[in-house]
Amino acid sequence: MNDGYELLDSGGGRKLERFGRFVLARPCSQAMWKPSLPESEWNRADASFDREDGNRWHGRGNLPKEWTMETAGIKFSLGGTDFGHLGIFPEQRAQWKWIMEALRASPGAKVLNLFAYSGGSTLAAALAGAEVCHLDASKGMVEWARRNAALNGLDSIRWIVDDAHKFMRREIRRGRRYDAIVLDPPTFGRGASGEMYKIERSLQETLDLASSLLSERPVFVLFSSHTPGLTCKVAENILRQRFPAARLESGEMLLEGRGTPCPSGIFCRVVF
Ligand SMILES: C[S@@+](CC[C@H](N)C(=O)[O-])C[C@H]1O[C@@H](n2cnc3c(N)ncnc32)[C@H](O)[C@@H]1O
Repeated sequence: MNDGYELLDSGGGRKLERFGRFVLARPCSQAMWKPSLPESEWNRADASFDREDGNRWHGRGNLPKEWTMETAGIKFSLGGTDFGHLGIFPEQRAQWKWIMEALRASPGAKVLNLFAYSGGSTLAAALAGAEVCHLDASKGMVEWARRNAALNGLDSIRWIVDDAHKFMRREIRRGRRYDAIVLDPPTFGRGASGEMYKIERSLQETLDLASSLLSERPVFVLFSSHTPGLTCKVAENILRQRFPAARLESGEMLLEGRGTPCPSGIFCRVVF
């Protein structure tokens, strides 16, 4: 894939990735195999993030505070956060491409992106011409997503900083409905006013509320997760109960580039 993002290698509990001009080495617990590249290649990374050392960057000074990268036709502003995140989950690339295709075939669709982080799915949907509402509980993440939207020349997205459940209850009362819903709930998170989100306790309510927000002619629900134990089949079981007549497509999300793709979470698409 000729793209701004590339997995260069993985193994030994780490991954080596190129994000535009910069190569970074970061932890990757599922990479239980041996790396393919010699240690000397890994040592050439511009910066690395290590958990052993109490969550620390090495060589962070080699990275600018912010840089831009394009992947799947979407431009992103990146930066090394204190938690080792960069503002993108590149394993979502295939989902962003799928969102674009699905929405190009459904012009004028209204999309709700919950737990939306830096907005990859929001941008994919808006670039495909959809009317998008983007929600995240973190003000900083919504600001980050807005910078990404500006980079992509998108200016008509509705931005919400709120707890996902609180917002959905309000939207239901207001009679708002959506043709497509994207949700990537965290294993554990906090709403904008400290509301606790625990996926094993909260997911059923998230789906109750999301189902009530679907329009009469829905296009899709796209669920993804990085929660250990929440496998493709678990996601399918949950979503089939809720949407028995819909077609489900599920699989592992992958970090891809050179060498063996590295699994990183799962997706389940509910297609109506
Ligand atoms: C796993 S990330 C989503 C990643 C994103 N979908 C992507 O792949 O680019 C989870 C996001 O949920 C947000 N979040 C956590 N608890 C929340 C809540 N109760 N309501 C809304 N957003 C929440 C966090 O701020 C974070 O941005």
